[in-house]
Amino acid sequence: MNPAPNLVLVGPMGAGKTSIGRRLAERFGLDFVDADLHIEQRSGATIAAIFEHVGEAGFRERERAALAELLAGRGQLVATGGGAVLGAENRRLMRERGFVVYLAAGLDSQIKRLQRDRTRPLLQRADREDVLREMARHRDPLYREVADLVMDTDGLTAADAATRLALQLAGRWQINGAAA
Ligand code: S3P
Repeated sequence: MNPAPNLVLVGPMGAGKTSIGRRLAERFGLDFVDADLHIEQRSGATIAAIFEHVGEAGFRERERAALAELLAGRGQLVATGGGAVLGAENRRLMRERGFVVYLAAGLDSQIKRLQRDRTRPLLQRADREDVLREMARHRDPLYREVADLVMDTDGLTAADAATRLALQLAGRWQINGAAA
């Protein structure tokens, strides 16, 4: 039984980290924290504006600081941004302070779920599909490296995925560890 003090969701854009995470947090009595939202609140700017003003590197630095702050806490379900695993220090902290779940999604599911999205700066281009494919190629090994558990979300609603994940977590993650 893993006694990690937080549950951490990793995975690509469109995997359902926020929608599944909210439901799961409620079931387990955890504080739901969306790392991107935390960054926006700390910066007083949207993710899109942060990318525009300080570029991806500036965003990654804010993301690193946000994760360090959040993961110092306990009893939380932290939904991370799709690129959070790019930083070695982020990966180390996630493993140290969390039971990490990789929510996987195939390209088709991602495209479908992100169809109407206008908020993610890295996808505001015509070749979205190529971008997502290349990200998956690069990042999938990193998601797997940090994950204690991998769950495929293809074909599942957020509610179904949350139920399935709750079942898979039972007996693997020591929820009481969150309060210790
Ligand atoms: C990013 C994913 C986004 C957000 C930012 C960059 C990425 O989060 O952090 O737009 O690099 O994959 P979601 O995965 O929650 O969409």
